[in-house]
Amino acid sequence: MKTVLVAGASGYIGRYTTLEFHRRGYRVRAFVRSPDKLGKPGTGFAPAIDKAVDEVFTGDATKPETLYGVCDGVDIVFSSIGLTRTEPKRTWEAVDHIGNRNILDCAIRAKVRKFVYVSVFRPEDMPESSVVNAHEAFVQELRQSGIDYAVVRPNAYFPDMAQFLNIARKGVIFWLGDGSNKINPVHGADMAKVCVDAAEGPKREIDVGGPDMFTFRSLFELAFRTVGKQPRIIFLPLWSGEALLGLIRIFNPGLAGAAAFFVEVNKMDNAAPAYGSLRLENYFQEVIRQESVNPKP
Ligand SMILES: NC(=O)c1ccc[n+]([C@@H]2O[C@H](COP(=O)([O-])OP(=O)(O)OC[C@H]3O[C@@H](n4cnc5c(N)ncnc54)[C@H](OP(=O)(O)O)[C@@H]3O)[C@@H](O)[C@H]2O)c1
Repeated sequence: MKTVLVAGASGYIGRYTTLEFHRRGYRVRAFVRSPDKLGKPGTGFAPAIDKAVDEVFTGDATKPETLYGVCDGVDIVFSSIGLTRTEPKRTWEAVDHIGNRNILDCAIRAKVRKFVYVSVFRPEDMPESSVVNAHEAFVQELRQSGIDYAVVRPNAYFPDMAQFLNIARKGVIFWLGDGSNKINPVHGADMAKVCVDAAEGPKREIDVGGPDMFTFRSLFELAFRTVGKQPRIIFLPLWSGEALLGLIRIFNPGLAGAAAFFVEVNKMDNAAPAYGSLRLENYFQEVIRQESVNPKP
């Protein structure tokens, strides 16, 4: 039986990928900061996964002294470790780049056969984004490490799209561009199958999107329909985003990397090869259903 280390097992993609490795007969070692999280559901209705985990290794990727033995006896490392919300004192460089490199160093020492990493879609189109650059700095080191590897590049996940439901509820969505750019977000369970296929197959770079292609306009219309509101979308010229970004660079440089991601993502086409069968429309309905069962105080 092969052993896989899932780094980031408590996160959205890590949970579904843990389940998929388990389903395909792997022994799963979960690398987490907080083991308690595994027994509870996570972001975006991602399930509890404690029953699918054979072994838990507790540590912090940014602290090499906590990683001793993490990859011992492991055949494959899968990492979806990343900083996905801004937190004081933690940077993308420290988590996405250096944290993953610390695990890669352990993998090389332990003679792990393959390292699968989740980065981002079309990084070349987002050269000014700190989050993208931190991911790609690690990818660069992975490519040069000599270990067999695969990089999975999703365009967007369903839970991130749910934020448009909240905005639609307020009655109006403001957006940069004309709304014609395409995007096909993917569910964590469909993404997990691609990640495990990547661990088992020969491809080294895999772009991933979901089954339904939207324009941003049609995505927003779906959000308005789901919350039962008349669509009201105000498109702002792209130059206004660039101008705002220029001001942010001067007055709040710390925020500029995140703001650049938002502006750059609006300029590019996010249409990725389609995988899976789970539909955003059904996910949006599930969000509404869950909110009616557990209303916010
Ligand atoms: N959201 C999108 O649409 C999108 C699109 C393309 C690519 N991506 C990338 O896909 C990857 C996975 O995303 P996701 O939604 O699964 O993220 P997530 O739910 O936030 O999961 C991130 C995981 O990383 C772990 N982690 C963070 N810092 C750590 C540290 N210092 N040591 C050990 N573990 C640490 C978290 O652990 P805790 O539970 O302890 O915090 C969590 O398990 C990220 O790199 C993200 O940037 C996202």
